[in-house]
Amino acid sequence: MRLDSLLDVLADEIGDLRSAEEQLIVALPKVAAAAHSDELRAALENHLEETRGHLQRLQDLTPTLGTTVPMETCEGMKGLLEEGEQIVAAQGDPLAKDAALIGAAQRVEHYEIAAYGTARTLADELGLDDTKEVLDQTLDEEATADKLLTKIATGGMFRSGINREAAARS
Ligand SMILES: [Fe+2]
Repeated sequence: MRLDSLLDVLADEIGDLRSAEEQLIVALPKVAAAAHSDELRAALENHLEETRGHLQRLQDLTPTLGTTVPMETCEGMKGLLEEGEQIVAAQGDPLAKDAALIGAAQRVEHYEIAAYGTARTLADELGLDDTKEVLDQTLDEEATADKLLTKIATGGMFRSGINREAAARS
């Protein structure tokens, strides 16, 4: 890899994000199917639709950059999704598993928020206003998805459910 300019860095970030979104589109249906809570499953399925839109936005902005976007594999997302697969395959209490799925999904969201935050700032510095705007739209949706996961996790459902199970076991 050669990085000679901020535009090279932006192109690299876009290539990395494209791979990240592609991997997430493959993984999210499995994560959603593993969710016990209807609310969590619906949130994950909704984010799958949004994620398809995120990939489309990256594909649409690529030809407007005026440089080549490298083909790459986002190793960070790959690692996060491998960890997520372990939770999908886990046995045990369904509510505990949902809590773990939320944790894994939020790691993914925070990773994307970091990457989109960098990319939109680079686009802003480069005066690529349209690109910045598109990246901001996705960044907002990632942040909203993250907040919704927190809301589901702290809605009281898990706490009461897990504690009830624990009391039944003791
Ligand atoms: Fe996304």
